[in-house]
Amino acid sequence: MRNRQMVIAKIPRGALQVSDFEMRDTEIPEPGAGQLLVRTLRLSMDPATRARISDAGYPGMLGVGDVMAGSALGEVVTAHAEGFGPGDIVECHTGWQDYSLQEPDAVATFDRLGTLEEHLSLYGVSGLTGYFGMREVGEPAAGKTVVVSAAGGAVGHIAGQVAKQLGAHVVGIVGSDEKARWLTETLGLDAAINRRGEPLSAQLKAACPDGIDIYFDNVGGEILEAVLPRMNEHGRVVCCGYASQYDVAAPVTETKGVPALLVRKRLRMEGFVVMDYYDKKQAARETLAQWLGAGRIKLSVDMLEGLERAPEAFVGLFGGDNRGKRLVRVADPSANAG
Ligand SMILES: NC(=O)c1ccc[n+]([C@@H]2O[C@H](COP(=O)([O-])OP(=O)(O)OC[C@H]3O[C@@H](n4cnc5c(N)ncnc54)[C@H](OP(=O)(O)O)[C@@H]3O)[C@@H](O)[C@H]2O)c1
Repeated sequence: MRNRQMVIAKIPRGALQVSDFEMRDTEIPEPGAGQLLVRTLRLSMDPATRARISDAGYPGMLGVGDVMAGSALGEVVTAHAEGFGPGDIVECHTGWQDYSLQEPDAVATFDRLGTLEEHLSLYGVSGLTGYFGMREVGEPAAGKTVVVSAAGGAVGHIAGQVAKQLGAHVVGIVGSDEKARWLTETLGLDAAINRRGEPLSAQLKAACPDGIDIYFDNVGGEILEAVLPRMNEHGRVVCCGYASQYDVAAPVTETKGVPALLVRKRLRMEGFVVMDYYDKKQAARETLAQWLGAGRIKLSVDMLEGLERAPEAFVGLFGGDNRGKRLVRVADPSANAG
């Protein structure tokens, strides 16, 4: 058996293309003392990884010939480290390849709450980001109007539903009419806006006639600029990410309305990283499991089959062709996994 690796073939000058990647065939690496050999099972597609593809040469950047970075759930094949054995399922940065070597302190054990897919979408980084960002930073409540951008994505589809569970009036922004219908008809949001439709400011005015109290910002850029003037006094902007800027040659460094609107409207703009709230992880997972079990929230997993489709899966995130959490199935667990 061989190790297939999806590597960066060229550095994009603008939007990333599938042709910027190519498959390479290599030997399966041999784990040394203290190391694990891990077989990738499910790759998580995370848009922020795009910002690491660059020829700037900074530490941590990915250049031509490098295996594309990505986190995943994998299965331990060989363990030369105490506390691990073959068949263990672990979460780690495998990159886009079949096999990787891992140091034990760089892997997390799989908590077995739900399936592999549920872990990567709801109980892991994406779901917890939506949950903590909305609940802890946004603090939605009955009577509040909440807007979520990239509301049909991995983080966004959870964030919007969390706000609904906490009693708010929730409006989602997505990239197509079809996705907008899905938000209202299937996920139960109160209204949805297509960012590629009529001018955003007019759509926001119509969908949020009483203004916006909380904006959960997954994308930054022009959408943030359109939302800020519609914010109510003492509103909160939850800065989760800036997906509109990851796949452009020259990211926008200034946002219209900052700081003037922040001062005039007494807005609070707060960034967060999901790990900030990991001391509350267990309770969050229990709440999410309860809501899911009771049918109060819906989970959407959007999985493509095969490592060879990872470039297509990833590039598609920037066109918004995913519904919920995008994953790639590289392999299934062996009969010994447990
Ligand atoms: N703070 C944290 O700890 C943390 C942790 C994880 C992720 N994040 C951030 O959360 C955000 C969402 O991540 P995710 O994994 O859930 O991705 P995702 O929402 O599943 O995928 C990205 C979505 O962004 C939208 N989008 C892409 N390009 C855009 C553009 N130019 N303008 C506007 N919208 C665009 C697309 O949706 P539509 O086409 O439907 O609009 C797309 O589906 C990202 O910014 C990510 O970096 C933050």
